Amino acid sequence: MRKKIVAGNWKMNKNLQEGVALAKELNEKLTADAPKCDVVICTPFIHLASVANILNPELIGLGAEDCANKEKGAYTGEVSAEMVKSTGAQYVILGHSERRAYYGETPEILREKVNLALANGLEVIFCIGEVLEEREANRQNEVVKAQLEDSLFDLTAEQFSHIILAYEPVWAIGTGKTATSDQAEEMHAFIRQTIADKFGAEAAENVSILYGGSCKSSNAKELFSKPDVDGGLIGGAALQADDFKGIIDAWK
Ligand code: G3P
Repeated sequence: MRKKIVAGNWKMNKNLQEGVALAKELNEKLTADAPKCDVVICTPFIHLASVANILNPELIGLGAEDCANKEKGAYTGEVSAEMVKSTGAQYVILGHSERRAYYGETPEILREKVNLALANGLEVIFCIGEVLEEREANRQNEVVKAQLEDSLFDLTAEQFSHIILAYEPVWAIGTGKTATSDQAEEMHAFIRQTIADKFGAEAAENVSILYGGSCKSSNAKELFSKPDVDGGLIGGAALQADDFKGIIDAWK
């Protein structure tokens, strides 16, 4: 079901003590001032079990930032979808541009991760988005459509109902250069139409499509005012409770 969502992606930030403190602070703030949207924080693996015991699940969902594309076994250092689920997490980010770029995550690998995440009852926040050169060549639609087709279009409609999409123009991530709300709406509408063409109108109407890329409390209300923008996937601004709450409050 389509929801308003603000999700934080901590990336590789906060040691265990700092992460627990941030989770506690955010939980206290949202307990005192309830959000008008779904809130999720996605943390490094080391925080999940501790933070799961801190958060009020009625207020804040918990996710991982990745999971393995293997079920279990001799894959040193990997963390499986089952392990993520066992911590109390309900979500997992997959396909983030940083993992595609730095760790060679191919569409095939991402398909395997998505299937294992869904098989273990996780909701998937699936990231798509073009790089600057592709935007400058006006190839963004072609690129994003291929990312959807290559990793999600083997899913059944029921499986797809557990997918949240996050459009993150790579040129806006961590740069302070946010896409305009019109650019975001144009792409989100294209994504929704692409989903409708594959999975039908109901699936397209029900999927939540988040925007990510230098979303801040100063620009969130304008971004979220667009009809096909269902919220944000937040990086830097998720690392401070007040900054993150400022984005959550954009839905008020
Ligand atoms: O996954 C969200 C992230 O890529 C956006 O980062 O720092 O531009 O909000 P940031």
